Amino acid sequence: MITVTLRNKQSLSYDEAGQGPILLLLHGFPLDREMWRPQIVGLASQARVIALDLPGFGGSSSEETRFTIESAADSVAEFLLATNISERVTLGGLSMGGYVAMAFARRHPDRLRGLILADTRAEPDDEIAKANRAKSITLAQEKGAAGVIEAMIPKLLAPENIASCAEDLRRIASRQSTASVLNAIAALRDRPDAKPGLKSIAVPTLVIVGDQDAVTPPSFAEAIAHETPGSKLVVIPGAGHMSNLENPAAFNEAVSQFLQSR
Ligand code: MLT
Repeated sequence: MITVTLRNKQSLSYDEAGQGPILLLLHGFPLDREMWRPQIVGLASQARVIALDLPGFGGSSSEETRFTIESAADSVAEFLLATNISERVTLGGLSMGGYVAMAFARRHPDRLRGLILADTRAEPDDEIAKANRAKSITLAQEKGAAGVIEAMIPKLLAPENIASCAEDLRRIASRQSTASVLNAIAALRDRPDAKPGLKSIAVPTLVIVGDQDAVTPPSFAEAIAHETPGSKLVVIPGAGHMSNLENPAAFNEAVSQFLQSR
């Protein structure tokens, strides 16, 4: 783990491997950079793969001001400054990481070379989703991140992958602080509508979704791909919401082809 300090004194942690064009990866909720281990290992031969802890997660310090999807996108831009990365990057995000990646595309388009939106959605929370966030807040207050992930696992993973992947998710989630999890739930609930911004994305975009994703089903990925000019949609077989962990071979192949195509 490497830690860098931003201009606002916030510190962000990351892992990296490989050389070449930069592939910067943003994790889902309530996880951290470790969820990208199969991509750090599998894609380092063709890119400098960087898996970043979003503010408050993993080794990154939490922000002094309230965490929002847009503030997280700005922290990613600050991370690029702090690490002297001046080249344009391919930014990939899964679920919450995808929300941050879409916000980054709106706010810092000149830093992008390509975009990967995995198992995510453009629409904001509707009233039912907001009500479910209230339940998650209560669960986090009572049982912390470990309780939150336990409730999420049946929806996050395809049934056949629970035995092989659930322990990884439990281990990663249970080290996240309750305060950061609570901040993130509010950020997820209050995130803006990303749909109008999709039409303005001017870089090659890869949209990925697990064929059994029960959190952001393939229809959401199809909608993103439909709105995003020149995007490509890849459906990962035998995977739920955590497609990068559930079928890393197919996920890495899709990313690898995308990186090579440019
Ligand atoms: C995630 O996987 O990051 C979350 O499920 C996103 C969300 O709850 O909206």
